Amino acid sequence: MTAAFTIAIDGPAAAGKGTISKAVAAHFGFKHLDTGLLYRAVGAKTLLGMDPIKAAQALKAEDLHASDLRSPEVAQAASRVAVLAEVRAALVDFQRSFARRQGGAVLDGRDIGTVICPDAEAKLFITADADVRARRRYEELAGKGGGLRYEQVLAEVRERDARDRDRAAAPLVPAKDAALIDTSQMSIEDAILAAISVIEERRS
Ligand code: CDP
Repeated sequence: MTAAFTIAIDGPAAAGKGTISKAVAAHFGFKHLDTGLLYRAVGAKTLLGMDPIKAAQALKAEDLHASDLRSPEVAQAASRVAVLAEVRAALVDFQRSFARRQGGAVLDGRDIGTVICPDAEAKLFITADADVRARRRYEELAGKGGGLRYEQVLAEVRERDARDRDRAAAPLVPAKDAALIDTSQMSIEDAILAAISVIEERRS
């Protein structure tokens, strides 16, 4: 088993972090944690009336498998609970111990390279124009039904990005030493290859 090696992948909503992170983890044989799911699971509990800080402090592994965590309502709830420093603090230890597991880890989110794993061996910031990201998310959600409009998805992506960027606690910002990949004009296959090549460089 190889030593700990952390890959931090951050970026705005629907930039392709999830797909790239899964592919990178498969390529290197590392485990992957989608940290957005932690905030989505807490957000989902607040939609049921729970206090966000209590929900974060009591979060269990099985909560990450709740149905509907990918819905737009839960995404908005996630970004609302994510502004709370106490919610973020409750989720730090779990993320850090995952990051330092033997055999390597890929974590994707908003603050992995800046706050959770500032010493990560490789950092990527994946971005794309808001309209490209909204189009991709619209197509993903439309595939599941639900009668969404593209304009609505774009407005929600913009609203969530603004909330994530402007918050005081762990705002969405690239780490100084992160490699930036703009996927606006790239196929997902090319974006994955670009990510792998940046990480290969940091490994050598
Ligand atoms: O999949 P998508 O990029 O749309 O969102 P996500 O990664 O599942 O994250 C949902 C929300 O959780 C974000 O809009 C952030 O507000 C919050 N989040 C965060 O604050 N920090 C993280 N490390 C991950 C997610």
